[in-house]
Amino acid sequence: MSAMRFERIELKNWKNFPSVDVKLASRVFLIGPNAIGKSNFLDAFRFLRDLVVEGGGLAQALKSRGGLGRVRSLHAHRDPEVALKTTVLNPTSGARWCYEVSFTHETRNGHVPVVALERVTAVEPGGSRLLLDRPNDNDRGDLKARTQVAIQQAPANKTFRELADFLASVSYLHLVPQLLREEAPPPAERLTADPYGRDLLGIIRDTNPRARNERLKLINSVLKTVVPDFLELKMQPDSHGRPHLVVKFEHWRRYGARQDEVQFSDGTLRFIGFLWALQDKAGPLLLEEPELSLHPAIVQRLAPFIHRAQVAGGGRQVIVSTHSPDLLSDEGIAPEEVLLVRPGTRTGGSEIIVGAADEAILQLMESGIPASEAALPRTNPQQVPDFGTLFP
Ligand SMILES: Nc1ncnc2c1ncn2[C@@H]1O[C@H](COP(=O)(O)OP(=O)(O)OP(=O)(O)O)[C@@H](O)[C@H]1O
Ligand SMILES: [Mg+2]
Repeated sequence: MSAMRFERIELKNWKNFPSVDVKLASRVFLIGPNAIGKSNFLDAFRFLRDLVVEGGGLAQALKSRGGLGRVRSLHAHRDPEVALKTTVLNPTSGARWCYEVSFTHETRNGHVPVVALERVTAVEPGGSRLLLDRPNDNDRGDLKARTQVAIQQAPANKTFRELADFLASVSYLHLVPQLLREEAPPPAERLTADPYGRDLLGIIRDTNPRARNERLKLINSVLKTVVPDFLELKMQPDSHGRPHLVVKFEHWRRYGARQDEVQFSDGTLRFIGFLWALQDKAGPLLLEEPELSLHPAIVQRLAPFIHRAQVAGGGRQVIVSTHSPDLLSDEGIAPEEVLLVRPGTRTGGSEIIVGAADEAILQLMESGIPASEAALPRTNPQQVPDFGTLFP
């Protein structure tokens, strides 16, 4: 596996995490109860991407999240800075990038978010080089300079462009079938491809025909095995040039029956989005609960499928949030690949540990017990009340 990937991430005062410091495998399964912070954790990677994508930057990344007040942890007391630090590994060269950024409100000048610290280190087998260390001379007395991160500026990030490009390559998918069907225009302030799948059809249309056909071919072979009477999936524009996915089904009519995405089932649409995204050769992919709307028999095959797709795609990293025992029942999942999000023991809010760091989970998984039994039950809410009894 040779693609660049996140090797470690540290967060301070990020949403419901006062403090996080975890190592990340090439494939990660994020588990934990509802509202514990799984999506917030994925959002830290999206935030790093939003800092560097075109039209992004610090101010925009915060604005699209409702401002710094929404991002900063409500659990922060004395130490009000929000900080993200990540180590990115290039497995081909063995080199690493370390990127660290923290920001806070400048209170004297109308409460604008400003960079408190920004640092880039290149860690090579021969030693480390500090390429950026802010605040620096340019920042002193220049409030405007401090409202931007250097990594968002092409002239300033010249010596660490590889890192900026890597962060920009992060993608996120949480396809909502009804949004895709409705052709609702995605909100204008979006920085990247729509995570909810509203522009999936346009993306498929705009992919070069060879790559598109290759990807649709695999999607076709998979759908044939799971959708009854499925014959063929194609991309077809309508008379206005709008792209549509058209499926031909086996039918008593001689030429089969056709349907487009409006009629596809929720599971079919979500599965198409999943299969398309996994075949991208781009950077890290964040997948939100890929099990939704799918039959358990399919969900049981998702983890090995993700692994195969990673190998075929040059080893890109995939980080998945899930609640599914079926998905986690795959015995190929290693304890290093499981991240447990749980209530914080010391600080309030939530914390994250790697499955391998918990002796009991490690022992169980090493003896062949799958993550669904060894790790998932450990994330059960402390008490799940019988809420049926709450009816008056
Ligand atoms: N700035 C913040 N400080 C503290 N808590 C926050 C902050 N922003 C959001 N939260 C909390 O994070 C929780 C939501 O977290 P998130 O959406 O990541 O949950 P999740 O684990 O993905 O849950 P689910 O499994 O239901 O999708 C909410 O309860 C919300 O109150
Ligand atoms: Mg969530």
